[in-house]
Amino acid sequence: MKPILLINALVINEGTRRLSDVLIERGRIVKIASLIAARQEWHVIDVKGKWLLPGMIDDQVHFREPGLTHKGTIASESRAAIMGGITSFMEMPNVTPPTTTRQALVEKYQRASQVSYANYGFYFGATNDNIEELKRLLPSEACGVKVFMGASTGNMLVDNEQVLENIFLHAPCLVATHCEHTPTIKRNETQWHSRYGDNIPPEEHAHIRSVEACLLSSTQAVSLAKKHRTRLHVLHITTADELALFDAAPTLEALCRKMITAEACVHHLFFNQSDYATLGHRLKCNPSVKNRTHQEALWKAVNDGVIDIIATDHAPHLLSEKDRDYFRAPSGLPLVQHALPALLHMSRAGVFTPEVIVTKTSHAVAERFQIKDRGYIREGYWADLVVIDPSKQGEISGGEVAYRCGWSPFEGQRLSGGTVDMTLVNGEIAWDGTRVHEVAVMPIEFER
Ligand code: DOR
Repeated sequence: MKPILLINALVINEGTRRLSDVLIERGRIVKIASLIAARQEWHVIDVKGKWLLPGMIDDQVHFREPGLTHKGTIASESRAAIMGGITSFMEMPNVTPPTTTRQALVEKYQRASQVSYANYGFYFGATNDNIEELKRLLPSEACGVKVFMGASTGNMLVDNEQVLENIFLHAPCLVATHCEHTPTIKRNETQWHSRYGDNIPPEEHAHIRSVEACLLSSTQAVSLAKKHRTRLHVLHITTADELALFDAAPTLEALCRKMITAEACVHHLFFNQSDYATLGHRLKCNPSVKNRTHQEALWKAVNDGVIDIIATDHAPHLLSEKDRDYFRAPSGLPLVQHALPALLHMSRAGVFTPEVIVTKTSHAVAERFQIKDRGYIREGYWADLVVIDPSKQGEISGGEVAYRCGWSPFEGQRLSGGTVDMTLVNGEIAWDGTRVHEVAVMPIEFER
């Protein structure tokens, strides 16, 4: 593999932007300097006018393998992720069979080593009855332990109070929770069903999967973590009301001291309740997309450091499934291909700076999950990099969508914050703006 020299890059990293050249050899960044004299044998790429960011590390995706491969596969969805500047992903256990044993984890890692286009990590799924298996889990065998404290896609609800206590007590690594109080949701479903029958309008999802349901469950997770001193990461926060549960970490140093962190997802930041009118059940997801007031509170929380990480919760379903009535339309939407452009679009609109986006999608994820040598543009680190052309706008059309499910919630949108011109994974060009290339990928390593 020839060394690659990127010249004239505007490197956005660790809160600063600097014009630099970046030299990559044997997969790693070996030198960052204002001017690096090129050698003949190097592959020199001039990225003048473009931004160079560390690749996004997406801590929450559903790639549907094994068992749900009509919706997506590790290959199809990680390929789309590469096109969107996501260089590493951490994948959820609600597949068929679910990833609730160490053996199932091993098999997922093996599968990914054969087919993934990006670096990978997998969650161990906690259930009401696998606590003994959880106790055997080693700290670096999984990126984290996923607990569905609210029922969602897959049948993985953990609602036994004693089991929850034990999970929080014994988890050998970070616990990541889906927080929605299922009894509250069930009660709301019955009430809304008596009003509308099966054809509940899509926007009512915001009221059925309610603010109250989120707050009750997140409160329980936070109090369990405080009691057991658990490293807790509350996934996809959607309400202003839950934000008071979390401390602000205005710097990465402060983030590293936190026992409890919070995440927001791209769709909850980009869309709000008014978008159900055009997207219908395509926007149905758990937790639900809520109103503009909650959306704006999430924006502020990202900027204030109350929300530590931005992820996608990429969750593909077929349109034929989404077209069903309220109770039978599955929750979740595909996002990885356009997550970074969507965030950059919001940046162009003044919601977040590019520096904040880089911190939340890359640096903070690396710190929180204790990832080795990724998440920053630093000498010695793996060269997981994204070149953004900030002068280009992307009109998202169905034709370019790479997901197996064949649709995107951004279709018809003009994302004006820049396009992903190139993605490098472990120092190789995995996406050149036109084509995806198979490059050597590896499991994310954790320093725990
Ligand atoms: O909307 C969602 N879809 N939320 C989840 O928690 C699961 C996901 C899926 O797997 O479809």
